[in-house]
Amino acid sequence: MSNIFVIKKKINSFSNKRVRVSGDKSLSIRWVLLASLADGKSKSFNLLKSDDVKASIDAIKKLGINVKLKKNFCEINGKGLNGYKYKKNIVINAKNSGTLGRLILGLLANCDEKIKIIGDKSLSKRDFKRVTDPLKKFGVKFKLKNNKNLPLTILGSKNLKPIEYNEEKGSAQVKSSVIFAGLRTKGTTVLRAKKSRNHTELLCKYLKLPVNLSRKKNYDLIKIKKAKKIKSFNYSIPSDISSAAFFIVLTCLTENSTLTVKNVNINASRIGIIIILKKMGAKIIFRNRRFYKGEYVADIFVKSSKNLRSINCPVKLNTSSIDEFPLIFLVAAKAKGMSFFKNLSELNQKESPRLRLSSKILSLMGIKNEITSSSIKIFGNPQINIKKKIIIKNYLKDHRIFMSSVIAALTFGGEWHIHNKDSINSSFPNFLKILKEIQK
Ligand code: S3P
Repeated sequence: MSNIFVIKKKINSFSNKRVRVSGDKSLSIRWVLLASLADGKSKSFNLLKSDDVKASIDAIKKLGINVKLKKNFCEINGKGLNGYKYKKNIVINAKNSGTLGRLILGLLANCDEKIKIIGDKSLSKRDFKRVTDPLKKFGVKFKLKNNKNLPLTILGSKNLKPIEYNEEKGSAQVKSSVIFAGLRTKGTTVLRAKKSRNHTELLCKYLKLPVNLSRKKNYDLIKIKKAKKIKSFNYSIPSDISSAAFFIVLTCLTENSTLTVKNVNINASRIGIIIILKKMGAKIIFRNRRFYKGEYVADIFVKSSKNLRSINCPVKLNTSSIDEFPLIFLVAAKAKGMSFFKNLSELNQKESPRLRLSSKILSLMGIKNEITSSSIKIFGNPQINIKKKIIIKNYLKDHRIFMSSVIAALTFGGEWHIHNKDSINSSFPNFLKILKEIQK
């Protein structure tokens, strides 16, 4: 089957559609990693079954942990905090997943055999120095390609030293890796972290692990002590707002349409897109808000918006919407006026250089835009109606670039040929199936 997805027609209006998107990727990977070090059997429901999560399961299996992945649940039989078996020549393939590749390094901080971490073409271009730098301070040894990339080898230490570290990029992956290493280290690790998604801290709190958080104005102060044990725990993973976002934006941009996305994780550190879209005139309501094991969950109701306005996007919303910018830029393309997004250099550090690629896609759509290495100005056109053929090469097989392009094709018209359809398997294998449900 062709790996190029062709769209020749805009989507028709839809109303009262209700969909459920798959489990949250960040929570799924964290559950797999923490359950692998718990005492005994943990079970999860609605675990995301995507390549990034399957790579996480394969990683813990290589470390000697038994996993049952069934249709309706996943069961991990943890062997305790020191239960990993470090055989010689273990190779862990993190595939496309920065979260797995970076978080697991923290858990391997005390491994006593060399372990090699590899990844796909996209992950091999990404910066790992940001996480190996703090881990080296604990006493972990690394060898990295070009001093910053995969493949890398890690050799842990049985005599880890607690560190003080300032995380300044707003990277939850770096923060989580340091927390995991801190949980394996005697003494108190002190981490000052620019605010970013906080699922690791919330799970640690739920599991009563010695991770103490105090929120300061511009950063979080996190103190971590050595963990004694992790109790096994069952978890129902709520749906991923980053996956829901594709359909939220589809609805905003499609005339006379309404949609509800059920049971979505609405953690405050993840809902930047909702705040930004509302400021731009989108109609979005959280319904049936509830609390589940440390996280907030709600059904998200969206109605199409007639008068979208441009935005001068507040920098403080960048980290809480970091994965959604390719979509937010589409809303800016249809909004009246010039939108400005700044301090976004991190966007070029993702599965592909998303700031640069988004600018290219907007230009192909005929939307005037100006970029620098960290900002973009988008001159919106509320009458946008594309007539020409657009080819999106998506050369690094970036799942979010593929799915955002599909949303653009369905809402702005034209004939789109979008390459690397199977990239959706990283985070959202059901994406096209749910799209069909909405179109029915
Ligand atoms: C993630 C953190 C973010 C995000 C990624 C998932 C996580 O990356 O972009 O998709 O689960 O911790 P950074 O921490 O590098 O910003």
